[in-house]
Amino acid sequence: SPSDPDLVERARAAKARLGDRVFVLGHHYQRDEVIEFADVTGDSFKLAREAAARPDAEYIVFCGVHFMAESADILTSDRQQVVLPDLAAGCSMADMATAEQVAECWDVLTEAGVAERTVPVSYMNSSADIKAFTGRHGGTICTSSNARRALDWAFEQAGEDGKILFLPDQHLGRNTAVRDMGMSLEDCVVYNPHKPNGGLTAEQLRDARMILWRGHCSVHGRFSLDSVNEVRERLPGVNVLVHPECKHEVVAAADHVGSTEYIINTLDAAPAGSKWAIGTELNLVRRLANRYAPEGKEIVFLDRTVCFCSTMNRIDLPHLVWALESLADGKVVNRIQVDPETEKFAKVALERMLALP
Ligand code: 13P
Ligand code: SF4
Repeated sequence: SPSDPDLVERARAAKARLGDRVFVLGHHYQRDEVIEFADVTGDSFKLAREAAARPDAEYIVFCGVHFMAESADILTSDRQQVVLPDLAAGCSMADMATAEQVAECWDVLTEAGVAERTVPVSYMNSSADIKAFTGRHGGTICTSSNARRALDWAFEQAGEDGKILFLPDQHLGRNTAVRDMGMSLEDCVVYNPHKPNGGLTAEQLRDARMILWRGHCSVHGRFSLDSVNEVRERLPGVNVLVHPECKHEVVAAADHVGSTEYIINTLDAAPAGSKWAIGTELNLVRRLANRYAPEGKEIVFLDRTVCFCSTMNRIDLPHLVWALESLADGKVVNRIQVDPETEKFAKVALERMLALP
């Protein structure tokens, strides 16, 4: 639906008043009405780099979810302020690993005698606390666009008979290990934080190469192998392109797998007349379907029963206008600020990611 013209005008005016003092970042899952005001759009890796590359912006308005804004705060200087237009824009996956649970897990690994051979790799979709844990224990952050490189690096650090503790998305961890690195499903075990010892024996921990945290994305977890089979039947010749947060069986049945930025670049390069079924968040799929329809590329949503990421969708034009107008009036609202001790170690882990080859 078209945006309220009054709000559009107010957003424009507030941005104009702020000029170079503000820089607006927009994740690809944001609503069109918000994307329109983003100075840069990207996947989580690109946005982290963009935030770090804007030392002159006094304010970074992050149109995305909480962990992304935290990462931007960690990567920007102390005098810069990061604003999340709605504080309720969290991520259910990031909430699946708390600092206490991860500390307990590390105790379990220590007890089993594997901690010293284990390097943590944490997905960007995690709280600053988890990133700090990762930094403290010699690990790195990864995103869906560099998970393979992060795992290669981490295995090198872990040495002979080394293991990775992958947090918190079991699917990205498994898909990268099995699809991209040729490991087997048996090389992976799942650590369940709600069970004693993670539901694993010391022997299972010793035999595993990948210890996957039992977390997942509530949106991507809903795409199924049935949806892949159905779309292939409905649209012969269709290319199935999914995000690596989807379940392993979905990724294994897909033709292409990658981050949001990869999905966009792939569709951009696709020939006219090609057909695509996309398994990722709906705002992005709709935008791409509209963008490429005039070029004769047919783009459909992989499963019509899956919906938006409800927390990404919390950032809407009214929240953005409120944040921008407040800043223009000299009032900083919804600032995301990571405490210095957490920031120090989380930054170590994030910088390891940014330095990956
Ligand atoms: P990308 O890094 O691919 O943008 O993914 C972020 C995300 O939250 C996917 O659910
Ligand atoms: Fe989190 Fe999934 Fe939403 Fe991405 S799509 S922000 S992983 S809940």
